[in-house]
Formats: sequence, C-alpha cells, structure tokens
Amino acid sequence: RVSAILKETEDQCATPIQKLRQVADAMHVEMHAGLASEGGSKLKMILSYVDNLPTGNEKGLFYALDLGGTNFRVLRVQLGGKEGRVAKQEFTEVSIPPNLMVGTSYELFDYIAAELAKFVATEGDEFQLPVGRQRELGFTFSFPVKQTSISSGSLIKWTKGFNIEDAVGRDVVAELTEAMERQNLDMRVVALVNDTIGTLAGGRYYDPDVAVAVILGTGTNAAYVERANAIPKWHGLLPKSGEMVINMEWGNFRSSHLPVTEYDHALDSESLNPGEQIFEKIISGMYLGDILRRVLLKMAEEAALFGDTVPANLSIPFVLRTPDMSAIHHDTSSDLRIVGSKLKDILGVTTTSLKTRKVVVELCEIVASRGARLSAAGILGILKKLGRDTISSSGTKERTVIAMDGGLFEHYTKFSDCLEKTLKELLGEEVAEHVVIVHANDGSGIGASLLAASHSQYVELEE
Ligand code: BG6
Ligand code: GLC
Repeated sequence: RVSAILKETEDQCATPIQKLRQVADAMHVEMHAGLASEGGSKLKMILSYVDNLPTGNEKGLFYALDLGGTNFRVLRVQLGGKEGRVAKQEFTEVSIPPNLMVGTSYELFDYIAAELAKFVATEGDEFQLPVGRQRELGFTFSFPVKQTSISSGSLIKWTKGFNIEDAVGRDVVAELTEAMERQNLDMRVVALVNDTIGTLAGGRYYDPDVAVAVILGTGTNAAYVERANAIPKWHGLLPKSGEMVINMEWGNFRSSHLPVTEYDHALDSESLNPGEQIFEKIISGMYLGDILRRVLLKMAEEAALFGDTVPANLSIPFVLRTPDMSAIHHDTSSDLRIVGSKLKDILGVTTTSLKTRKVVVELCEIVASRGARLSAAGILGILKKLGRDTISSSGTKERTVIAMDGGLFEHYTKFSDCLEKTLKELLGEEVAEHVVIVHANDGSGIGASLLAASHSQYVELEE
C-alpha cells in the first residue's frame, strides 16, 4: 500500500519534458495577455516604473529596507561611483514576529520603522551624507503592488504568510512614511520595488547581460526587461531607454498543464489565500515541506507508514519545513541517519526502518523535482518572450544572464541543480551555452539602494 501511494504521487507529479514545454508555452501566452490589458491574465505583469537599470555611476549614501522574505532586512550602502562601486555596506536582519504578519498595518509598519530608526542611529562616520540632505531609502516590498510611480503603489493582495486586511489597497509608501514620522525619522522613500526588481537591478550592476531575475524563496516570482512598445496596456510616455522592467508575479500563474495533486488542492483550500498563487504553492519554500507532510500523513493513515499509530504532529500544518525536507533529501549516510533523526525530532517517531526512510527521501525527490522542473519551464517561457530561446536567425549569440536569489535556490542544492539541468535540457546544448544562471546573493538589497540612488531627489545636482 505504501508503494501504491508512492507510485500514484509520482505519476501525479510527473513533469515529462513535453509537459514542461506546454507549461512554458502557456506562460508565454499569459505574458502577452497580461501585457495587453489590466486583468487580461492571471499574470499581473506589473509595470515597475523602472526604465533605467544601474550603470555603475551611482554615488552616495543610501538605505534599503527589504520586507517579504523569511527575514526583514535593513541596509546602508555607500556607493562610490564607477571606481568605488559598493564602497561600504552594513546590514541588520530581524525576523518579523508572526503575530505582526496577521495583525494591523499600523503595527507592522511601526515595527519596521522602529527597527529602521534603530539601525540609522548606528551610522558611523565612514558613511557620508552631504550636509543639508535628507537620507533616502529604497523600499523592497515583496508582494504584488500596483505601482503608480517609482515611489508609490498600493498593495493588491498579500501572499505567503502575510494577511493584514487593512493594508490591502493602501499605498505602502505612505504607510511606511507615516510610521517613520511617528519615529521622528527624517528619511524619504524614493524607490518602491519588488524583490525581483531589486534583484534584477543588483544583478545588472555587476553584469550588463542580466535580463531576467527569479526569486525562489518563501515565495517565487520573476521579473525581466521588456521593450516598452511591447506593452499595449502602458499608455504613458515611452521611456527614453525604450525599456521597462516588468514584475510578472508569476506565483499566481496557473494552467491546465500544471500537474496538481489532491495534496495541492487540500493545501490550497486550507491556505490563507485559496485559489491564488497556484504556481507558487507547487514550487516555493513556504509550501514544499507541507506538501511532503500531507503525503506522509496519507501514508501513515492508510498504509501505517510509521506503524500502528499516526504521529500526532503530522496533522499540524507547516510542522515540516522546507529546510528540514532539504536536510532529509540531502542525507547521504548509508543508514539515512539524518532522515531518522529529523523524523524523530519533528514527528516524534522514535524508530523507523531503513525502508521507511527511503520512502521519505523518494517523496522529497518527487516533490522537489516537480517544483524545480516547473521553475525551469517558467524561465523557458520568459526566454521565449525575449526571443532568447533559440539561436537568432542572424546567427548572433547574445548572452542572457538570469539573476537568481532566495533561500530555496541558495540552500536546497538538489532543487537548484535540478532546475539548471532541466533548463539546459529544455534549451538544448547550443542555446544553453548562452544562458547563464547566477546567484545574486542579496542582490535585491543592493538593487533597491541603487534604484534609490538613481531616483534620488538630488540626482540632478549630481549630474
Ligand atoms: C533575499 C532578497 O535574498 O531573498 C529578498 O534580498 C527576497 O528581497 C528573499 O525576498 C527571498 O528569500 P526568502 O527565502 O527569504 O523568502
Ligand atoms: C510572492 C510575492 C512576490 C514576491 C515573491 C518572492 O510571490 O507575491 O511579490 O516577489 O513572493 O518573494
């Protein structure tokens, strides 16, 4: 019976290359639809108002605040222009108390502004702000926001573990600004960006060929550089650069081609946002561990995987976290010792047979590789949109760099390896040589400060 459930799960999660191509095509189609009109697709394809990416000339002291991943981060960066680059950088990282993730907007922003104020107070002499200038901040807010300018935008909805009703529809920059005023912190938010946009900007600073950014962390999302005249829903002036960075919000992608199981359906309907973020719920770090838990629960209940009693903890949502799943999946010891101790610590099962442990590892492989392979398919969809999925007819071989970040990509090696391998397979050897994946470690913090620099209220003075 255990092997029957295992086989069934494997079949339901299968992502043969043909299916991945269908997913990539569907992503490509939805990208067009989302760019054509507001509400034209599940993919919001949000205009970021970033029409110029960092050049390397950015100069001065800037702050960045990064909210929406596992941790909340505050940074200060002294940018040294062409020669100096990032001359000096400091940051602090705090986890958001869980009660604030589901409380009120006032409390959340109060907490953030207080942490920011504390951090600003520790600024040393090596950071230099010209006399008479206000400190400026790039705000990375990793949720779907309807941007109204580079420095304003209203929250469309919460994703991941956040759910603060009174913030929906409000301008997050106004909320933060008011909270900073309550802290007597004299600072201006000059850029509001999604983490994908920050990562793209940070990646571009170091490599001019970065055209796409993908986050695989608690949530998942992608951004890329689009031609402004390929965005029918944009009615504003065409930017001088002719380009506009698009935040796809690909976590909300869905398609009949996605392999969804009974576990995914249950996870979705019990989530804070049923019916939303379906792609994200199959792929990202917040959910992978819980998908695994659900399959294990079924195996325990229907096939006595852990003996006669079903471990009580198995019924607790999110008790099995993706980092634990990763540790289980990467166990290379012959007796799968780590798997055993994880099952003991998390589920309270004191003894497990090697056979049981092997089943658990196999399930990790099934669930993680489905997510990784679908992420690769999503990337192929973007490359198609950019016309970079084939060697161009003119024979030019442009290099395309994809900047990646997020805890899942960084720490779950089997996941990232599988993603890269699948993307190569999808592209074919010749094209794959020109598509490069780089890890833009905390690129989004630097990226937000770079965008703050290029949108500074003093930028004309610098030129
Ligand atoms: C970080 C970025 O490195 O990755 C954040 O700076 C981003 O902006 C985060 O939100 C996502 O990772 P995680 O794993 O913390 O959700
Ligand atoms: C969620 C958010 C999105 C963010 C992503 C990665 O999908 O909606 O804005 O970019 O998580 O953090």
